[in-house]
Amino acid sequence: MPHSDDDSISDCSTQYGHKPVLLEEAVGILSPSDGKTYLDCTFGGGGHTRKILESANCRVVAIDRDPAAAKRAEKLKSEYGERFDFAPIKFSDLDKLQTGGYAGILFDFGVSSFQLDDAERGFSFMRDGPLDMRMDNSQGTTALEFIENTDEAELSEVLRGYGQERHPRKVARAIIAARDAGKISTTAELAELIASAFKVREKTHPATRAFQAIRIKINDELGEIERALPKAFDALESGGVLAAISFHSLEDRIVKRFFRRMTGRPENPFENAPFGNIEKHASAITRKPVIPGACEISDNPRSRSAKLRAIKKD
Ligand SMILES: C[S@@+](CC[C@H](N)C(=O)[O-])C[C@H]1O[C@@H](n2cnc3c(N)ncnc32)[C@H](O)[C@@H]1O
Repeated sequence: MPHSDDDSISDCSTQYGHKPVLLEEAVGILSPSDGKTYLDCTFGGGGHTRKILESANCRVVAIDRDPAAAKRAEKLKSEYGERFDFAPIKFSDLDKLQTGGYAGILFDFGVSSFQLDDAERGFSFMRDGPLDMRMDNSQGTTALEFIENTDEAELSEVLRGYGQERHPRKVARAIIAARDAGKISTTAELAELIASAFKVREKTHPATRAFQAIRIKINDELGEIERALPKAFDALESGGVLAAISFHSLEDRIVKRFFRRMTGRPENPFENAPFGNIEKHASAITRKPVIPGACEISDNPRSRSAKLRAIKKD
C-alpha cells in the first residue's frame, strides 16, 4: 500500500511523500548527462524528476494530467528555475510540447500515493470518499457517473478486461442491482457491496480488481499508453533512452510489445515472423524487466509489482 507520513524511516526509505519506485534503477538507466534534456511523463510527486536534476546539470520537462501535481511542480520550479518546466497535459499529448530531442524519457504508470491517500479523490476502497477516480479531476466522467450510465454487459466486460476479475458477471450484477436501488455513491459503499457479494476470503480485498478496472476505464489508461509510446519514441534523440515502469500485466504487455517491435522483433514472441522482416529502430537495455529488491518491497509494498523496461534509440 502507499506510503503514509508516519511510516518509520528505514535504510531504504526516502524523503518523498510518494516513494518513487525503482528510483536508482530508472535514473541509472537514463544516465543523465550535463546539457541534455529529459522528459518525465508522470511527474506525480516529482521523485524521479528531482533525482534526474540532482544527477547532472541537465534540464527536465515534466508532465502530469493531475492538477494537484502541477501545484507540487511549483516547488521544484522555484528550486531549479530554467532547468525545470512543467506542463499540465496528458502524456498522449506529449507531441504538443515545444521541446523535443530528449536524451531520456520516463513513464511511471498508475496513480501516486498522493492520489490514493486523498479520500476525496475516490481512488481507494480503504478510504471513504466520493466515487471520483479521475486523474484529472477538472474534467471527464467520474467513476460514479460511469456506474450510473453503464449496463451489466459493459460493466462485466470492463471488470473482466481491465480488472482481470474472476467473477465479472456476478460483480457486475451486484453493482447494477445496488445502483438501481440507489445504494452506491461512495467508495466504501462500493467496496462493501463487492465484499459482501463474495463469501470467500482472498489475500487481496475483493474490491481490488473492480476499483482497478473502473479506474483504468474512466481514465482510458491503456489507450493513453498505446498512444504515448510511439510519440515518446519519436521525441527521443538518437541514442536516447525510453524507460517505462509498469504495475500490472495490462500496462506491461503494451510496453513489452512496443519495445519488441522497436527492437526488430515480432510483438508476440511465438509469432513466426521471418527474421529481418521487422525494421529495427532501437536496442534493448533490459532483456528481462528490472524489479524491486526485497529492501524496496519491504519499505514500500506498493512497489512489489513494478517492472522497469528500457530501450535505446539507434
Ligand atoms: C506513479 S505516479 C508517478 C510518481 C512519480 N514518478 C514520482 O516519483 O513521484 C503516476 C503519475 O502519473 C500521472 N499520470 C498517469 N497517467 C497519466 C497520463 N495519461 N498523462 C499524464 N499524467 C498521467 C498520474 O496523475 C500520477 O501523478
